[in-house]
Amino acid sequence: MTGHDGRIAELLDEMTVAEKADLITGDGIWTTRAVERLSIPAMTVTDGPNGARGGGLMGTGTPTACIPAGSVLGATWDPDLLEELGALLGDESAVKGANVLLAPTINLHRNPLGGRNFECYSEDPVLTGVLAAGFIRGVQSRNVAVTAKHFVANDSEFERNTIDSQVDERTLREVYMLPFEYAVKEGGAWGIMSSYNRVNGIFASEHDWLLGTVLRDQWGFDGFVVSDWFAVRSTGPSIAAGLSLEMPGRGQWYGPKRIMEALDSGACDENDLDRIVVDMLTVLDRTGAFDGVGGGDEGQLDRVEDRALIRRAAAEGTVLIKNDGFLPLDTSSLSSLAVIGPNAQAAKIMGGGSAAVRPYRNISPLAALTDRFNIEVRHAHGCNIDRSTPPVGAPFISPLETEFFKGFDQSDAATASKAYETADFKFFGSPADGIDGGEYSFTATTSLTVDFTGPYELTLVQNGRTKVFIDGTVVIDATEGDFGRGDDFFGLGSGEITGVIDLTAGRSAEMEIHYSSEGGVMILGCKVGLRSLGKRDLISEAEIVAASADAAVVVVGTNDDWETEGRDRDSFALPGQQEELIRRVCAANPNTVVVVNVGGPHDMGWMDAPRAVLNIGFAGQELGDALVDVLVGDVDPGGRMPTTIPARYEHSPAYLNYPGENSVVRYGEGLYVGYRWFDARHIDPVVPFGHGLSYATFAWDNARVSGSGSTAFSDPVVIEVDVTNTSGRAGSDVVQLYVEPPPSLLHRPVRELKGFAKIRLDAGETGTVRIELNERSFAYFDPGDQFYDSIPDTSPVPRERGERHSEPGWYVTPGSYGLVVARSSVDHVAELPYLLNGNEFRIDP
Ligand code: BGC
Repeated sequence: MTGHDGRIAELLDEMTVAEKADLITGDGIWTTRAVERLSIPAMTVTDGPNGARGGGLMGTGTPTACIPAGSVLGATWDPDLLEELGALLGDESAVKGANVLLAPTINLHRNPLGGRNFECYSEDPVLTGVLAAGFIRGVQSRNVAVTAKHFVANDSEFERNTIDSQVDERTLREVYMLPFEYAVKEGGAWGIMSSYNRVNGIFASEHDWLLGTVLRDQWGFDGFVVSDWFAVRSTGPSIAAGLSLEMPGRGQWYGPKRIMEALDSGACDENDLDRIVVDMLTVLDRTGAFDGVGGGDEGQLDRVEDRALIRRAAAEGTVLIKNDGFLPLDTSSLSSLAVIGPNAQAAKIMGGGSAAVRPYRNISPLAALTDRFNIEVRHAHGCNIDRSTPPVGAPFISPLETEFFKGFDQSDAATASKAYETADFKFFGSPADGIDGGEYSFTATTSLTVDFTGPYELTLVQNGRTKVFIDGTVVIDATEGDFGRGDDFFGLGSGEITGVIDLTAGRSAEMEIHYSSEGGVMILGCKVGLRSLGKRDLISEAEIVAASADAAVVVVGTNDDWETEGRDRDSFALPGQQEELIRRVCAANPNTVVVVNVGGPHDMGWMDAPRAVLNIGFAGQELGDALVDVLVGDVDPGGRMPTTIPARYEHSPAYLNYPGENSVVRYGEGLYVGYRWFDARHIDPVVPFGHGLSYATFAWDNARVSGSGSTAFSDPVVIEVDVTNTSGRAGSDVVQLYVEPPPSLLHRPVRELKGFAKIRLDAGETGTVRIELNERSFAYFDPGDQFYDSIPDTSPVPRERGERHSEPGWYVTPGSYGLVVARSSVDHVAELPYLLNGNEFRIDP
């Protein structure tokens, strides 16, 4: 027993049942309970995958580093880079006082419409798993624990709290659980977050097979499992399955009373309880909590080198999908540039929901292009894409000076004051120092200035009671009445309440918001938006701007209201009239590049129109500058598509089995997710998995394989390729290795990604990439025939006995494999035959 294990064993011995129950039950929304008698500290956690937000909710809280969202990280194909980014988020978690970062999100892009696709890396489990392992190593190098999430089959948001994901075991093992297996075995994850959904009928948070058999017994996981927030459904079964921590506090299913009852009634076994108590003591130990790490005031880093890293990562995840030589832009030949599109002026750097953070910086493409170019930059918005009215913010308002009062009537002096950048007030608990989370009110004052004269609709969504004044006149009074329910405030907010005002371009109006928490529950506050009602032909305005410039950059996309936790998208198309905008701008000015600023896959049926297409994704706080780096060629676009873009939504693999019905989503496409489907069905995608161009050109030579050629795998199977940069500039390339299996007992995908390597080369330089495969790279999972023995053998209807495995496991079949060295799932550069001699063999799950 090591010293640490000894301390944990001693503490376990000394703890009462009530103290054990306290330890495994959350306290606040982001903290666990301390056991003061034994000096066991509380633990602090923070969301999430693209930043360490700290104690705030969604996009509020202490400013923090905002790295690119998961789908951009997936496009980097660079686990070392993810390790660096993980280390940065480890540092950010530490300065926010957190012991645990609730990340990475490693569910898969099963369907293009999945609301959280932006958080997840890819459609491919190996790419996701290798990247996740890098990220995890980085975070944990700072003694901050991760919780790889959401375990498992949580790949869409439809009925997310209850849906039953029905997935066969083989598909779970080979596809959806595989990233988690990498997280545990290669990343050494200290934590896992169980998902909201059911898996084959059982809630993931009490799934004995998932949390016990697979995670701990088979994979050897020795960390803690935290529930997703409010996802626990039981006491005894969850403890028995190995759910170590119920979050948030104060728990509904864990906690002393419930646990005593469960022990007394026999619904819970004390040994099971002890096991998860040890999990919690272990994570406290691993993260240094026993030595005082965690908690305290939240700080900020914002280091110069972090900005540089995030900027580099954004470019490494930018995919140059199409280029006829137009990019990099030859700035010396341009005297004017049109910058057009709904996302040009306000960059969308992240998606919505628990991943949202308050970033240190957010530079829009328009601002970055204007700063860097010494030429005339003309802007047009092009079209509106708002799903719901966004909260009003800069450049239309000055900071909202906000005074907080105890109670509702504001007769005493204000207790606290703060300034806000947008009229989006959301508070869980105390909104400001000295004010508790119960009865309070605030008044926010700002000056509102628009750039277009005409009628405007002022909008309000509230959880509480609000009045909005413009120049002293009440425009919205929502202090009495029933305003219905909308989906804001996690579904607790009112419907949209509106009032109409006339505003004059350039003339400031005073706006005052009076809010009280009266009648509100849980997540309190209000959101005030502004929408022009004027008739304006934005596309025609954009055409004129485009026609008058030497070249055009069109930034299209979505935002955190379209791509968010809690809701799937309802259309594959880019929202609003963006396709028409692209086509008309390209017609007005053929020298156009389209920049796609989205989280998940969207329709790209317009690809023929522009000369070049860049997919930048939700690229984090340095998006604007990173985009300019790539547009002008200071940096090579390093990204390769992490997910296939189908020509039509109907071509996507899960189309017929999405979103689900009668509380069930059936993963009917099985293993055939992403390119596996397109290959098997001979469907041409618009953009294949793995595709991406560089500004440099590369020759691949001498692809070779070594290895014993036997199913004994006495030597590793190593593929090497010499890569030469044949261009006059530096760039990067990604060598992808797909394995094509011989006929096997079970149906198998045509080919699957099993390894990859990214290489950066200077002009003229040659390097060698090395990809190592192991026995699992050749194996498929066979759950075995579990039915044969139960079939009655009655003459004259005998039991047919085809060939089958009776024992579940990973099987490697001898025979001729193809090792495909490729630039994408469809662009194959070399195919190396690889013969595996010997006997079929089985690997334990
Ligand atoms: C999300 C998790 C997140 C948690 C805490 C849940 O709604 O699904 O990903 O970590 O909230 O914010």
